[in-house]
Order: sequence, then structure tokens, then C-alpha cells
Amino acid sequence: MSTNTFEQNQRQCPLDEDDQIWLFGYGSLIYLTDFPFLESRPASIRDWSRRFWQGSHDHRGTIDNPGRVVTLIEDEGAVCGGLAYRVEATVFKQLDEREKNGYLRVSAEMTFDDGSHATGLTYLATAGNEAWLGEASEIEIARHICAASGPSGSNSDYLLELAVALRELNLHDQHVFEIEKHILKL
Ligand code: SIN
Repeated sequence: MSTNTFEQNQRQCPLDEDDQIWLFGYGSLIYLTDFPFLESRPASIRDWSRRFWQGSHDHRGTIDNPGRVVTLIEDEGAVCGGLAYRVEATVFKQLDEREKNGYLRVSAEMTFDDGSHATGLTYLATAGNEAWLGEASEIEIARHICAASGPSGSNSDYLLELAVALRELNLHDQHVFEIEKHILKL
């Protein structure tokens, strides 16, 4: 079972309703944009890497058979590419609901593709949260993903759609592409 972080995000990070905020998306937020946004731009964050180490009990898996989805892990010198969205602060209610399976909103320093910077928010699931599944080899992760699905669809679609979206952004992610390779073989 996992914690619902909706209330925690709403309580700990109240936002001024009139604000516009940059959100850095690095997982499904790159390709599943079911929320309103004012603008989107390719962006990256430094010293973080994307990893399929977080459990999904509500979207790509179930309580009994959680899927695996991405979170960020600290990785000095690494650059994680994704998409930044400028959103109205009110959109975070919907986003907090979507990301409630262990993700907390944290501040993120992002760099846009033209080299300019902005401070915004990103959803981070840290080691030890109740939905955390942790490190495993790419082949183990691929096997796990192939066996999971939930209310938002199959876990393999989550991975395959992310891999396509990363390529469209001209981003290379060894971890994601390696898991993709195994999944396509399995
Ligand atoms: C994100 O996409 O930025 C967070 C993780 C997810 O929803 O897949």
C-alpha cells in the first residue's frame, strides 16, 4: 500500500492562485498532457537522472501488482532532459491528484534549450516513500513492467510512449532505452 501525498502537497506547498509557475516534467508529464498549460519548452535539470524506481499502484499497476514509473535520483554531473510547462497555479490541484502516489512537489532549477534558466517545480518521489520499489537491473525492470497494468493503461505503454517522446525531443536516456530494448524482445 502507499501514501497519498495529495494532502501533503496541498498543505506544504500552498501557491498564490494568481501565479504562473514552470513545471518540469520528465516522465508521463512529457507525453500525457491532460492538464491545461500556457506554454511548453524543452528543458533540463542538472545533477538528476531519471529511473524506473517508483511504484505505481494507481495508474500503471494495482495495489497487489504495482507497476514501475520514473522518478529522479540525485546524480552529480548528470543532465535530465524533459519538458517544462508554464501553468496557472490552480492547475496544481489536478496535478497533485495525478501524482499522489508518493510524489512531492519540490523546487527545480531548469535550463531551457536556449540556455536561459528558470526556477519552477517538479514532482519527486524519494527513496523510502511507501510506493518506492528501488533499484533493479534494466532486464528485471523490463520483466516487471511487462507484467503490470492499471487504470491508466499498461505499464509497457508508459515506458514505450516515454521512449518515443524522448526521441522526439532528441534526448538520449540510456536507462529508458535499454529497458525499451528488453521490452520489445520480451
Ligand atoms: C513526471 O512525469 O514529471 C513525473 C512522473 C510521472 O508522472 O510519470
